[in-house]
Amino acid sequence: MSNIRKFNVIVAACENGGIGYKDALPWTLKGDMKQFAQLTTETSDPQKKNAVVMGRKTWFAIPENHRPLKNRINVVISTTLSELKPPCYVVGSVEDALVLLSSSPLLEQVEKVWMIGGERVYSYAMESPQLDRVYFTRIYGHFECDAFFPVAKLDKLEAVKDPRVSETDQEENGIKYKYEVLQSPKSELVNAA
Ligand SMILES: NC(=O)c1ccc[n+]([C@@H]2O[C@H](COP(=O)([O-])OP(=O)(O)OC[C@H]3O[C@@H](n4cnc5c(N)ncnc54)[C@H](OP(=O)(O)O)[C@@H]3O)[C@@H](O)[C@H]2O)c1
Repeated sequence: MSNIRKFNVIVAACENGGIGYKDALPWTLKGDMKQFAQLTTETSDPQKKNAVVMGRKTWFAIPENHRPLKNRINVVISTTLSELKPPCYVVGSVEDALVLLSSSPLLEQVEKVWMIGGERVYSYAMESPQLDRVYFTRIYGHFECDAFFPVAKLDKLEAVKDPRVSETDQEENGIKYKYEVLQSPKSELVNAA
């Protein structure tokens, strides 16, 4: 098997680092959902798809009529869920997800791997040398949450531009937010090597 591949993280978090409450999103932001769908789906090679990697609760937080996330390879991390049919896979850890996606045939079929939550997936991802970029939606305000993103880990990343991502302030339903794209310096070193 070739090397373990790099991945992006995509997350929306409020000022206290909260990402979820009672197995659902604490907010409804259609613009952010649209951006999530676009970024995680779009590929430069039309023959390939992207993969989304998520914990079991995130999987079940997706409304049934949108599950699996369409036009993407869905990889669910769980030690309790039984098998799913391709293009959905169940694996026992984030490491196993990366091994699966770094091996044939998914290595050749998948263009970009996106880690889409929840808490343990993000914690692992933010410590990994395979982290490439974080697409971060910064939501202003404090929401009651019981799942969190390690926001302090963003400090070691560098802001970059992505032409697909708006730099202007957003507002929906009275909630102010903005998009940030952050690059792992480790990733640049790997690229330069
Ligand atoms: N704001 C955002 O961007 C965002 C993104 C995603 C999710 N969310 C929200 O976050 C919440 C869900 O996140 P969560 O942290 O509570 O749960 P989660 O990570 O989605 O799911 C937890 C479950 O996934 C499995 N799992 C996760 N990491 C694992 C690991 N490293 N090794 C083995 N198994 C692992 C385990 O399943 P088993 O018990 O089956 O072993 C665990 O019980 C929801 O409220 C959701 O709406 C928000």
